[in-house]
Amino acid sequence: MNTSPTPLGVLVIEDNDGDARLIHEALRDLPATPITLHRAITLQAGLEFLGRNLPDAVLVDLNLPDSQGLDTLRKVCALAPHTPVIVLTGLNDESMAVTALREGAQDYLSKGELDARLLLRAIRYAMERKENEALLRDVQSRLVQAQRMEAVGRLAGGIAHDFNNLLTVIQGYARLLQDSQPPESDTHRDLAAIATAADRAASLTQQLLAYSRKQVMQLRVIDLGSLVQTIEPQLRHTLRDNITLTITLAPDLGQVEADPGQIEQVVSNLTANARDAMPAGGSVMIACANVTVSDDWASRHPELRSGEYVQFSVTDTGIGMPASVVQHVFDPFFTTKPFGQGTGLGLATVYGIVKQHHGHIWVYSEPGQGTTMTVVLPRVNQAITLAPEPTAPATRGSETLLLVEDDPETLTMLRISLKNLGYTVLTAQTAHAALQLMRHHENTVSLLVSDIVLPDLSGPELYEGLRGGRPDLKALFMSAYPGEAILQRGMITSGTPFISKPFTAAALAQRIRDVLGNQSTH
Ligand SMILES: Nc1ncnc2c1ncn2[C@@H]1O[C@H](COP(=O)(O)OP(=O)(O)OP(=O)(O)O)[C@@H](O)[C@H]1O
Ligand SMILES: [Mg+2]
Repeated sequence: MNTSPTPLGVLVIEDNDGDARLIHEALRDLPATPITLHRAITLQAGLEFLGRNLPDAVLVDLNLPDSQGLDTLRKVCALAPHTPVIVLTGLNDESMAVTALREGAQDYLSKGELDARLLLRAIRYAMERKENEALLRDVQSRLVQAQRMEAVGRLAGGIAHDFNNLLTVIQGYARLLQDSQPPESDTHRDLAAIATAADRAASLTQQLLAYSRKQVMQLRVIDLGSLVQTIEPQLRHTLRDNITLTITLAPDLGQVEADPGQIEQVVSNLTANARDAMPAGGSVMIACANVTVSDDWASRHPELRSGEYVQFSVTDTGIGMPASVVQHVFDPFFTTKPFGQGTGLGLATVYGIVKQHHGHIWVYSEPGQGTTMTVVLPRVNQAITLAPEPTAPATRGSETLLLVEDDPETLTMLRISLKNLGYTVLTAQTAHAALQLMRHHENTVSLLVSDIVLPDLSGPELYEGLRGGRPDLKALFMSAYPGEAILQRGMITSGTPFISKPFTAAALAQRIRDVLGNQSTH
């Protein structure tokens, strides 16, 4: 900016012709820095100029025909809060000058010592300081925003945890009762409605967990471009016929370490929003490219580290958003859509997923013009790993399971569900009860299915105890705490079989078969 050839615009509010001329002459002959001077001889005229123009700096004499002292300064600062103001003082006005600095002036100059270099330097410094202040304000507001998201995330995560416990019981019993009723009966239908509502609640809870960055991630090294291409048909299906979709992939696109399912969700949520923003049709552009975040850029975005990233953006030509909406788009439950048409969790989920991947997301939007949502994810240099082929799930079994869960309702529900699948189920509500039971059934139990948090010992501690007599005993742990949180607290190590609540009996049964192996003896 210092080398910019554009002239600097400086407003001088000074009633004394002699002083004004001095300033004019001093600044006139600076070949390297062209300056355009505007003069006002009253405060009123100065304020009128500021109402219409945005000079680079203001030089102001505090004692004017229509205004005296600090009042003059306050009025100038109020009208042009982002413009640096330099106060012109009389020779013996040192104390006034210091007060002026406190009141928002960037600098002061004594009229007795006005020379070109001093003036120019004061103007330059004042502009630089003002710029730094603006930068600091910007960084601070980003930081406050990030902290606010963090706090809401923690709250959402806490609620989601308790909900998970309750939903496991509701889903489980609804399905159990349903199975006991004739398929054509009214009761069967009503119970199906309860189960469906509970499933819906569980999926909302899942989104809250995503927002609070507590989902268990299945990380792989993937190519975002191929991912977008794979789901292109699905994206076209999301968009209506009157919306065109263009996908632009940069050549040599880098790879990212990500959970493909979650990234798919990000792309499809953004695409759904783009569609909703274009009721009368338009176009959606998805673009992927490599980007480098410089130190300078990172210093302006406290939540971002400098380095190599892969960027993808979704641009629409829709209704856009005013700044008041942009500010809140990532808040959970923030929606401008009519009741029943949006939950306001779409972008909250996107935000959580992107953050959990150590990435970042920006919104650029202009009302009436459209919106671009840009996501960056850290680039990695590794070969692509292919996802394993899914295997057909088997759910029934005839082994003996030792089920340990302190919540009696959940315990009963799980016992009945597993029994219905052919298993013999021993149950205990505490680790000590489980240890006792095992003494009598040491050779029959194939698998310990235990909650991680028990009233006396932890699930993994119980497992250690049981393995003394049965080194080949297998274990599957359950918890309403998200897997990530449990891993972080060192309660289990990664690779330990784990299922997070809420789960359906079918999902648990499938996990049990994963652990026991598919060659069921049933
Ligand atoms: N591309 C966009 N163009 C214009 N406004 C948008 C766009 N994307 C998001 N918004 C605004 O942000 C709000 C929040 O979006 P978000 O995806 O979180 O929730 P939603 O779309 O309203 O509901 P849900 O995604 O849960 O169905 C939207 O209601 C809308 O006002
Ligand atoms: Mg949405």
